[in-house]
Amino acid sequence: MGCFLALSEASYLTHSNHTDPVFTISLPQVIKFGFGVSREAGYEAKRLGIKKALLVVGERVAETKLLEEVKGSLEEAGVSVRVLTKVKIEPEDEALLEAYREIKDEELDGFIALGGGSTIDTAKVLNLLHTYPRPLEDYINKPIGKGISPPGPLKPLIAIPTTAGTGSESTSVAVLDVKKLKVKTGISNPYLRPTVALIDPLTTITMPPMVTASSGLDVLNHAIESFTAHPYTSKPAIRNPGERPVYSGATPLGDMFAVKAMEWARRYLWRAYADPYDLEARYYMMLGASIAGIGFGHVGVHVPHAMGYPIAGMVRTYYPEDYEFGYPIAPHGIATAIPAGPTFKHLAPYNQPKFSQVLKLLTGEETSDPKEIGEGILEYYLHILESLRIPTDLRELGFNKNDLEDLVNGTLKQQRLLSISPKKITKRDLEAIFKELL
Ligand SMILES: [Fe+2]
Repeated sequence: MGCFLALSEASYLTHSNHTDPVFTISLPQVIKFGFGVSREAGYEAKRLGIKKALLVVGERVAETKLLEEVKGSLEEAGVSVRVLTKVKIEPEDEALLEAYREIKDEELDGFIALGGGSTIDTAKVLNLLHTYPRPLEDYINKPIGKGISPPGPLKPLIAIPTTAGTGSESTSVAVLDVKKLKVKTGISNPYLRPTVALIDPLTTITMPPMVTASSGLDVLNHAIESFTAHPYTSKPAIRNPGERPVYSGATPLGDMFAVKAMEWARRYLWRAYADPYDLEARYYMMLGASIAGIGFGHVGVHVPHAMGYPIAGMVRTYYPEDYEFGYPIAPHGIATAIPAGPTFKHLAPYNQPKFSQVLKLLTGEETSDPKEIGEGILEYYLHILESLRIPTDLRELGFNKNDLEDLVNGTLKQQRLLSISPKKITKRDLEAIFKELL
């Protein structure tokens, strides 16, 4: 292990005049973690000077007593609360605009998000549109939108995640589908980041098994992808600090978070799936999700996440348990975990020191042969997907060989992610990986 670490740490010290030797970590002002901390929503809202809040809550969470607890805590602190449950899982632009129309004339001075990644992302977008009204596409990342930055800070947002996965409570990104273009994209801007994150493992005990599985796989992917990204010291030099991309590539601090998150996901993901009341497993999955979020929030994620976008956008016939919405869906964590194994196998030779550590962390196996490393990680993914009753290829999601071209082209659109891959990704790379899944 020592020699592997020495190798990967050394790579952070090599840069040239053509590369940028700096990385940045930005976080919410306050992150609180612990059992029951969601009941401190009122205290935090009052501290931030919020008097009239929009509480954005997912429909499933709205049926639990958690909503009453959080709402009660806000009202006790003298905050008046308007509840909005109009949240779509994996929201598209139209759904976000519909939600916005419902609240646009309300006087609001703060936002609370109580739910999974989709709920937190919805609250980020509503806060943006409510604070600085503009057509949504103005804010969407280039080249799909105009990528315009809001002129200043948004209203305070308190994020209370109820899934252990996305890390959205500490990131500056909101992911959304653009319906007419059938493409998943996002809005990334530092002002979108929640002001306060209240991370309470107790909120996740009502998460059904398949949601636990999907969000837990997302954690594992965040950790592995950020850990194996190209080093931040290899990104191009910039002329002024404002040009520095949000995703920097792997950093020593990102590595630290990723290693711990991988360890915890390996130990606790299946336990949390098998027994929702396993509090030790819930605790460490939630903590793992948060630290993986802090890691990938500045490092970035790469190829499997880029592939997950067209997979989620084009899915035809997959109706996973616990996601019964009447339309086919490839939940984010599942859409990124299915391509992960073959992708890591393909990439292992291009960052052998890091991938060999991944293999060791996940399986205990030690080898320096890139082929064995890649095969070993693929094996691990096949095993974990099967044990969580998730398909291991795309055929089971309704895809066939005729989709190859669209899947490859959809992935190539995600250049922001592909640019931190340990290998420069070509069309041929993606064709080779997708063919293994079709
Ligand atoms: Fe993710």
